[in-house]
Amino acid sequence: MDTTTTKQRYHITTFGCQMNKADSERMAGIIENMGFEWSEDPNNADLIVYNTCTIRDSAEQKVYSYLGKQAKRKHREPHLTLVIAGCLAQQEGEALLRRVPELDLVMGPQHANRLEDLLQQVYNGNQVVATESAHIAEDITTPRRDSTVTAWVNVIYGCNERCTYCVVPNVRGIEQSRTPEAIRAEIERLAKMGYKEITLLGQNIDAYGRDLPGTTPEGRHQHTLTDLLYFIHDVPGIERLRFATSHPRYFTERLIKACAELPKVCEHFHIPFQSGDNEILKLMSRGYTHQKYRRIIDTIRRYVPDATISGDAIAAFPGETEEQFNNTLKLMTDIVFDHTNTAAYSPRPGTPAALWDNQLSEEVKSDRLQQLNHLVSIQAEMRNQRYLHRVEEVLVEDQNPKTPTQVMGRTRGNRLTFFRGDINELKGKLVQVKITEARAFSLTGESVEVRQVLAV
Ligand code: SAH
Ligand code: SF4
Ligand code: F3S
Repeated sequence: MDTTTTKQRYHITTFGCQMNKADSERMAGIIENMGFEWSEDPNNADLIVYNTCTIRDSAEQKVYSYLGKQAKRKHREPHLTLVIAGCLAQQEGEALLRRVPELDLVMGPQHANRLEDLLQQVYNGNQVVATESAHIAEDITTPRRDSTVTAWVNVIYGCNERCTYCVVPNVRGIEQSRTPEAIRAEIERLAKMGYKEITLLGQNIDAYGRDLPGTTPEGRHQHTLTDLLYFIHDVPGIERLRFATSHPRYFTERLIKACAELPKVCEHFHIPFQSGDNEILKLMSRGYTHQKYRRIIDTIRRYVPDATISGDAIAAFPGETEEQFNNTLKLMTDIVFDHTNTAAYSPRPGTPAALWDNQLSEEVKSDRLQQLNHLVSIQAEMRNQRYLHRVEEVLVEDQNPKTPTQVMGRTRGNRLTFFRGDINELKGKLVQVKITEARAFSLTGESVEVRQVLAV
């Protein structure tokens, strides 16, 4: 054991989506404020937080195997504090204590900002469960962000949809939008710290503002995502704005126009479609048809012809016929996505579709998932070919861990790009890169010109 420091050490492992990653960064900030220091190895940590995901069964099983190991360790090292946070914690609540009695704290995602208070209760000798629904307080601490170049900013928490397969509304609660002023203030702080790219986050980010008061004279909500983009786009020092994830139901032409008009908003749209079949979409309670989805993509391509477009798809939803599945393949073939996240349907506790008696077999699930994934990589490679010999703007984020003589970053279209360069010189710089190689999931190029970005 290291005796040169008396500081307590903490470790966080994050499972799941960007929302969880952003929550982990806030929790890390709180823990460091309390005087802890980071330990890369959980086995050397005095405090471990597992920030969990329950979107699919596989995500859940992974958490239990990590947790089991540390629960055992706690028998040898009783001072170890074990925290389970995030979506699985919210879903299981007290039941987790019965399953893993070594746990000190079970806390849902709505309580991330209250971590200090909850840990105090633990250090006072209590075993704590914090899963009641709560109003999410404005961030009080500075997050410990993983990157010094790109940052996530939550704009709306929760989800008001009820897709029949999905646990998110159960575990993340109802929509809570932050005010435009609070969001802008956070982005201004980030700009002053040197951040160059901001990704606005929400489960259905285009539903932003529905819960805030105020309507325009024409009767629409005063605070929409479109209004928010206009409100924040001129923060000096910020070079790029992104937002995710968009729901097809709320994606408006006005929003697309704003993206085309505002130079900092990157030409990348992530809009999950889930299925290309109207019957399945209805059973999923998605609230749109494949025709509506296609119209959105057509409109995007009209205003922003070079936009990259990505989506999410689920294979083998209960009762999905071969023909219905083929409609998903057809939608993808017609649109040609830059990227698609895919998953086989996984029945989740507390969701309607999990109770239906027309579940498909594991064979059908894995066969359809494979078909989807095959198409995804063909399309990604095809779409990436259009960048060959073109000059793309890359925001340098890091060294390429596999080839240290290279740096890596993303194009405005969110394509991962590698090129030769020195990270000490280029981190956080916008570089014009001529693309020399295009693969399905990344690009390689050569630096043509480094743009000097003025500090604010
Ligand atoms: N709010 C976003 C998606 C959030 S969940 C939207 O509505 O589009 C992220 C992705 O996980 C979903 O897009 C879906 O493709 C996948 N997913 C959610 N529940 C799932 C389940 N039960 N089985 C398989 N995939 C699921
Ligand atoms: Fe889940 Fe649907 Fe909400 Fe997305 S919109 S988080 S899929 S319930
Ligand atoms: Fe998982 Fe929760 Fe995100 S269930 S996908 S971590 S919202």
